[in-house]
Amino acid sequence: MNIRKLELDEKPPIDLLLLADPSHMIVERYIERGDCYIAEKEGEAIGVYVLLPTKPNTIELVNVAVKETYQKQGFGKQLVLDALKQAALCGFKTVEVGTGNSSIEQLALYQKCGFRIKSVDSDFFVKHYPQVIYENGIQCRDMVRLSIEL
Ligand code: COA
Repeated sequence: MNIRKLELDEKPPIDLLLLADPSHMIVERYIERGDCYIAEKEGEAIGVYVLLPTKPNTIELVNVAVKETYQKQGFGKQLVLDALKQAALCGFKTVEVGTGNSSIEQLALYQKCGFRIKSVDSDFFVKHYPQVIYENGIQCRDMVRLSIEL
């Protein structure tokens, strides 16, 4: 798998980005402001992540996604570790990420990559998303915020 930054004139892989965030509008908004990286295998985009600077020295990993047929083979972990490497190369000191209380796999993945839970934004998804979201039989209500110091 080869990971590279998307060129300015290239179209972002919107289908992949929407796997991580059901809101087209929110996805459009952060790809405008952040850097999008894609993972390719034999010329096919199979993964994506977006890094968005938020505060001095801090960057947020706002979207990580792996194409369904390639999930559970270690690519997600490779993407998160690559995002940490890119953030460090760009001089950032802290990487933040947020995920839903029902996103069990994502919570496992980020913690396995060294992230620690810092806070919980209660009812974030209830307030900001028009549709009710369920994952793993759990309603997605709260945003769990994690971070790692580089
Ligand atoms: N309990 C414990 N560990 C779990 C787990 C669970 N229920 N589910 C996954 N994991 C672990 C895996 O075992 C692996 O750890 P390991 O390498 O130590 O074995 C780690 O999580 C990551 O697995 P990996 O195969 O690299 O993940 P992936 O390629 O399937 O990608 C996502 C993970 C989340 C990127 C992928 O499922 C995806 O694209 N989901 C849809 C988009 C999304 O929700 N993005 C996140 C937005 S916050």
